[in-house]
Amino acid sequence: MDKRPIGVFDSGIGGLTVLREIMEQLPYENVIYFGDTARIPYGSKSEQTVKKFAYQCASFLKSMDVKTIVIACNTASAFAIDYLQERFDIPVIGVIEPGARGAVETTKNGKIGVIGTSGTVGSGAYQAAIMEKNHEAEVIGIPCPLFVPIVEEGWEYSTVAELTAQQYLIELKEHGVDSLVLGCTHYPILRYTIGKVLGEGVHLVNPAFETAKELKEILTAKGMLKEDFTKPKYEYFVSDAPEKFRRLGGNFLKKDIETLSEIAIDSIAVDE
Ligand code: DGL
Repeated sequence: MDKRPIGVFDSGIGGLTVLREIMEQLPYENVIYFGDTARIPYGSKSEQTVKKFAYQCASFLKSMDVKTIVIACNTASAFAIDYLQERFDIPVIGVIEPGARGAVETTKNGKIGVIGTSGTVGSGAYQAAIMEKNHEAEVIGIPCPLFVPIVEEGWEYSTVAELTAQQYLIELKEHGVDSLVLGCTHYPILRYTIGKVLGEGVHLVNPAFETAKELKEILTAKGMLKEDFTKPKYEYFVSDAPEKFRRLGGNFLKKDIETLSEIAIDSIAVDE
């Protein structure tokens, strides 16, 4: 039994879609969430910068005595999972491996689509993780950067969202993919619109759900669950604009954000 909190971080509010799944699948676990709202987006930044930021986020969580770190951001998982796993002595879990597994398990024709930020798709991380599990798979990656601001505006059911999805996803339709990884924290919120554009034959894989499932398996196997069935504590930290995080976060989490503080992430040392 381990009562320490689970640490979760993302570039901002998007990782709350991962936290939501953790709350559902591990309802008694205490969680500390950090959103790097001062430095979002990560999706358009270089590997070197994302690694540096991810290291500072993980260091902050480690300083709060978390028992495990969940990289709830697809871009940070794509660029920095190995880097963080080598530098921290607690389990570090990303969203790419669980998402890739979900896609490989659901495809029937071996044609898998991956959508995400430019960083995530450009890194080839999902493509590599999928091919490792199924050498025969055909993976098509499409960056969909406009989906992030559309979701943050709360326009996920709008005509703008539908037209944008049609434009981005046409190639996936032409390739006949039957499984699509929603490889960005914001995309599960666009599930309805993406599903409408692609039609019923395409299975949408939510890495947030798959990650929470894997987290539960890991904590169970290591005997690290809280296991006392008492009400959990959720604490939130951001690096800028806490009130905006509180306001927008509700749409991602479907829950009120109460205990929220601001920290100076820049003052945390980087790894040399
Ligand atoms: N959280 C990021 C991701 O999942 C999306 C937002 C950003 O670009 O930072 O890749």
